[in-house]
Amino acid sequence: MKISDELRDKMMELAYEAMERAYAPYSGYKVGACVLTKSGKLYQGCNIENAGFTPTVCAERTAIFKAVYDGEYQFDAVAVVGNGDKWGYPCGVCRQVMAEFCNSDFHIFVGDRERRITEISFGELLPNAFGPGAF
Ligand code: THU
Repeated sequence: MKISDELRDKMMELAYEAMERAYAPYSGYKVGACVLTKSGKLYQGCNIENAGFTPTVCAERTAIFKAVYDGEYQFDAVAVVGNGDKWGYPCGVCRQVMAEFCNSDFHIFVGDRERRITEISFGELLPNAFGPGAF
């Protein structure tokens, strides 16, 4: 699905807003996300770290899981932004979660702390994904 520039900009804005909610006392790396459901709803998420490190959850998964809890299982796009000076592409665990709920044409907009934006599709980010279609 084509995402208009206006919708992309709104998603980026909501992702930067979500970044302010990050709980990242260990890394200091704050991440915000905003995911667009196929039904047109937007869900925000932030990273939530833990003293045990491994229970840490990324911003993308927080946003997707909030949506899934609400009964939304299909997505068209995500905006993910961080306070780093380089683009922070979704981690491997988040890519696998996306494989469960997103198609290869799912749009991923990535922004850095200077609000520079780049875009990549899920198919480019995780080719030959192992997903529900495997069964
Ligand atoms: N992080 C995300 O929120 N999303 C990603 O895709 C990459 C990593 C978070 C997890 C952790 O809180 C911090 O960034 C450093 O890894």
